[in-house]
Amino acid sequence: EDNLKINIAIDGPAGAGKSTIARLVARTLSYIYVDTGAMYRAVTWFMMEQGIGPEFPEKVLQLTQKMVIELIPGEDGQKVLVNGEDVTPYIRSLQVNGMVSQYSQIEGVRRHLVGLQQQMALHKGIVMDGRDIGTTVLPDAEVKIFMTASVKERALRRYKEMNDAEGMTLEQLEKDIERRDRLDAEREISPLRCADDAIVLDTTHMDIPQVVDTIVDYCKTYRGGE
Ligand code: DC
Repeated sequence: EDNLKINIAIDGPAGAGKSTIARLVARTLSYIYVDTGAMYRAVTWFMMEQGIGPEFPEKVLQLTQKMVIELIPGEDGQKVLVNGEDVTPYIRSLQVNGMVSQYSQIEGVRRHLVGLQQQMALHKGIVMDGRDIGTTVLPDAEVKIFMTASVKERALRRYKEMNDAEGMTLEQLEKDIERRDRLDAEREISPLRCADDAIVLDTTHMDIPQVVDTIVDYCKTYRGGE
């Protein structure tokens, strides 16, 4: 049974719904879901809390290596602990949104988090989502999905997901998503890029169960073909 387990990499731009889908795919297959964006967010939150800006990459790296980041699976998503403290509510704030791309560009931070992510996936049975999973973190993942949706649709999904959208209009959310797309795609280290062997899934006109079923089917096909 165990050696039938595979790893699934789900990449794509901000707001494509990766985390919702990845969590449901993991639940369907009884796999473990790893949200790598939450790890970059946790580092960002912690550095802002400590008052260390991304212009001090050495200091940031030093502290990152000392941080204990834990991802705890739960019913309504995953809890993120930093040095034992539950920071889940803080890492999705606008402040963290505004800075996470900058901290994510620091080479040492990426190297450190990628190492942790690779360890988590050693025993297979992992659904991991992010930007560089299929290309850099798990280049040998058995199933790789590159999930996209139009900017408008992604902004709308974010809008519905945020309670009062924190006072943001749909237009502002669109601009924010465009800005992050640009930063994530243009950075030198591990830019957002579709792996050559990834399946591209445009979800603009798909609902959540359709996307989940499609991915689960790919996994079954893969395992059936072994
Ligand atoms: O998926 P998310 O929106 O929670 O990701 C937050 C930020 O973290 C995103 O702007 C880019 C960065 N990120 C990254 O650089 N590499 C990953 N594997 C995941 C996220």
